[in-house]
Amino acid sequence: MYTQAMDLMAKEGKTEAPVLRSAEEVQLEERFDARIDAGDFIEAKDWMPEHYRKTLLRQISQHAHSEIVGMLPEGNWITRAPTLKRKAILLAKVQDEGGHGLYLYAAAETLGTSRDQMFDALHTGKAKYSSIFNYPTLSWADMGVIGWLVDGAAIMNQVPICRCSYAPYARAMVRICREESFHQRQGFDSLFVMMKQGTQAQKDMVQDAVNRWWWATLMMFGPTDDQSPNSAQSMRWGIKRISNDELRQKFVDATVEQAQVLGVSLPDPDLRWNEERQHYDFGAIDWSEFWRVVGGDGPCNRERLGARVKAWEDGAWVRDAALAHASKQAERSRKHA
Ligand SMILES: [Fe+2]
Ligand SMILES: [Fe+2]
Repeated sequence: MYTQAMDLMAKEGKTEAPVLRSAEEVQLEERFDARIDAGDFIEAKDWMPEHYRKTLLRQISQHAHSEIVGMLPEGNWITRAPTLKRKAILLAKVQDEGGHGLYLYAAAETLGTSRDQMFDALHTGKAKYSSIFNYPTLSWADMGVIGWLVDGAAIMNQVPICRCSYAPYARAMVRICREESFHQRQGFDSLFVMMKQGTQAQKDMVQDAVNRWWWATLMMFGPTDDQSPNSAQSMRWGIKRISNDELRQKFVDATVEQAQVLGVSLPDPDLRWNEERQHYDFGAIDWSEFWRVVGGDGPCNRERLGARVKAWEDGAWVRDAALAHASKQAERSRKHA
């Protein structure tokens, strides 16, 4: 998920051009590389290569946008939750996602970009967010499946980022991952209740949701390793710790067994245990769909962006009022000083 912006740039041929560096810069970079090799964490005020800063900014801001846009498909179901308990859980989860966005915007700000700049990039379509949120949520079972599969894939992606070389990002991720594991569990629990105690119609609804979300979830790990040329540099810098394909395989291996416990089938006729590899084999992913949705033509791209822009515009009076209040307070304290 978080590699998508980098992969998109690579696909468009926008790799960073080599820059001529002074002797001092070369020395600084050598020292930086040595710190990375020693497993040191980099703090906001430390020297860092410009390319490292840009790569991180792109990744963290995309991650922040994904959290915020990710509130939309689930937010739609808060008023339609079947019980008070499920409503309280869903409300808490959607609020968590908003909090994740805020931690991450704060982490990105330490790299020198303002929140206004990041919002502007999101609202004008320049910045990307995870394509998974451009799919519609058609039934209540989608809430369970998003928790189980989408948050489950997010955890697989995000746990290694807790050891990211950039400390403010790594620290934010520790808190986020704890909450993500609650998200995954509540989704699984909701599906488990429907599958074990529900009517046939509820079981069919769960299976239908799994069928619709499975392949899009596998795409969350980003393109295959041979199509992800920027990953090597991110690995070198300790921004990325495990490759897309490795993470995807770990996710499939863990999820097949959970599906068996639930009693749902995964919509892939090629999915089977490979004794030799000690992993599950799975079928080919339709990458043309992935690139189409990343490129803006998914089922809900326009709707999601439209909802974000509307929320921003509707909130203008709150921002104006807060600024007016702050300047009044500042004036008052000046007079009393
Ligand atoms: Fe989150
Ligand atoms: Fe989550």
